[in-house]
Amino acid sequence: METIKVGLLGLGTVGTGVAKMIFDNQEELNKKTGYAIEIIKVAVKNINKKRDIELPQAVFTDNPQEVVENPDVQIVVEVMGGLEDTKDLIIKALQNGKHVVTANKDLLAVSGQELFEVADEQKKDLMYEAAVAGAIPIVRAVKESLAADEITEVMGILNGTTNYILSKMSQEGADFADVLAEAQELGYAEADPTSDVEGYDAARKTAILASIAFSSRVTFDDVSVSGITKISARDISYAKDLGYSIKLLGVAKREDNGQIEVRVHPTFIPNDHPLAAVNGVYNAVFVKGKALGDAMFYGRGAGELPTASAVMGDVVEVIRNIRSGSNGRIGCTCYNEKNIKDVNDVVSKSYIRLLAKDEPGVLAGITRILGEHHVSVESIIQRGGQSSGCDECEQGEAEVVLVTHAVRHQDLKAATDEINSLAKVIQVYNIVRVEEGGN
Ligand SMILES: NC(=O)c1ccc[n+]([C@@H]2O[C@H](COP(=O)([O-])OP(=O)(O)OC[C@H]3O[C@@H](n4cnc5c(N)ncnc54)[C@H](OP(=O)(O)O)[C@@H]3O)[C@@H](O)[C@H]2O)c1
Repeated sequence: METIKVGLLGLGTVGTGVAKMIFDNQEELNKKTGYAIEIIKVAVKNINKKRDIELPQAVFTDNPQEVVENPDVQIVVEVMGGLEDTKDLIIKALQNGKHVVTANKDLLAVSGQELFEVADEQKKDLMYEAAVAGAIPIVRAVKESLAADEITEVMGILNGTTNYILSKMSQEGADFADVLAEAQELGYAEADPTSDVEGYDAARKTAILASIAFSSRVTFDDVSVSGITKISARDISYAKDLGYSIKLLGVAKREDNGQIEVRVHPTFIPNDHPLAAVNGVYNAVFVKGKALGDAMFYGRGAGELPTASAVMGDVVEVIRNIRSGSNGRIGCTCYNEKNIKDVNDVVSKSYIRLLAKDEPGVLAGITRILGEHHVSVESIIQRGGQSSGCDECEQGEAEVVLVTHAVRHQDLKAATDEINSLAKVIQVYNIVRVEEGGN
């Protein structure tokens, strides 16, 4: 049996999972691909580190160039992370005639186009299933299984850390800071959680999803992002009262005029929406297609073996393409001109929570301002004093929660800025978008 020679850039969490799958599933992989798979070079930072997997010491190097320049390596698996230097390595690997499988969402979300152009030129495969939602096979589903359909909307829970935090807050009524600290202790959140809790990680994945769903080249900078740090136990409690769950969603929608909305933010979703049932570290992607209707993909968004499963699916695909001489078959599907909708023009329902003086005329003042800015109100809850369910209120204060009908973001912002300046309003605490449409 002929052998396919693989070089790994990185042998950390994902790389170790990849190596384990290559060893443990050898027989199946041989049968499925017609080839034996051998790891012949592995670049790591520290070649003396104790590893969770045994590989001959001779395969290790601390110089990644030795992987991408090795004439025998046919497939480079990039699982080391990083931006500029890693981009150069992938480009060099492709130019040296290697196929590349990567899990690097950070890099693809900013430099995808450049990398795909080189892959196309070289007629090599560049695959990245693990870069979006870990184990969930969403990239191939959108690029291949749904290729004949017109996708209008992709909406996903794309970050396990924030979903874990929001789920815990909802189950226990706990506050953000406490749950974050617990998640860090359990290893579900990084010591520096910024990329997760501020929504940047989800935004990178949303950019990649929007690119493949709408055959355009959406980048990280196109995504309007807000994270979950302002979500409090009170917001979660009101969401429950109103029949919603709060999730950090990546949302990408395309209108008939070709405009693309692409945003990441905490969202109220109705409890009967399939995404509302996605809890803990799980991820899910909800897709709407003109022919497809609705479909949802659910699974683990991270972790050693789940992520390795997606990487290895790509490796198998590359080997099958090698076998049939069809590498570079799909290439970059980014032929549509990018037309990103200004986030101020996005229209959605919204939830507003504010604290005001419990005096006559306050509500009338608030609703007058909303009306002047074309914001109509679907429901209002007012709670005043400790006895009526507002623990945060001092004597003479009331908490007001409003859910609006669909409103242009710019109008809502102008209205809430004006409401915030009213003498009788103490503070507008939070504004959260409300997604419509359950089953
Ligand atoms: N972890 C997940 O669940 C997950 C899920 C989806 C996507 N991803 C993506 O997969 C990639 C890898 O993530 P990971 O969690 O496996 O990372 P990780 O555990 O930190 O592993 C990184 C690996 O790369 C090596 N490395 C780093 N910089 C290097 C350099 N300059 N030269 C040579 N080797 C270098 C490290 O060497 P040492 O071992 O010597 O330190 C380590 O083996 C990232 O792009 C990440 O975004 C991860």
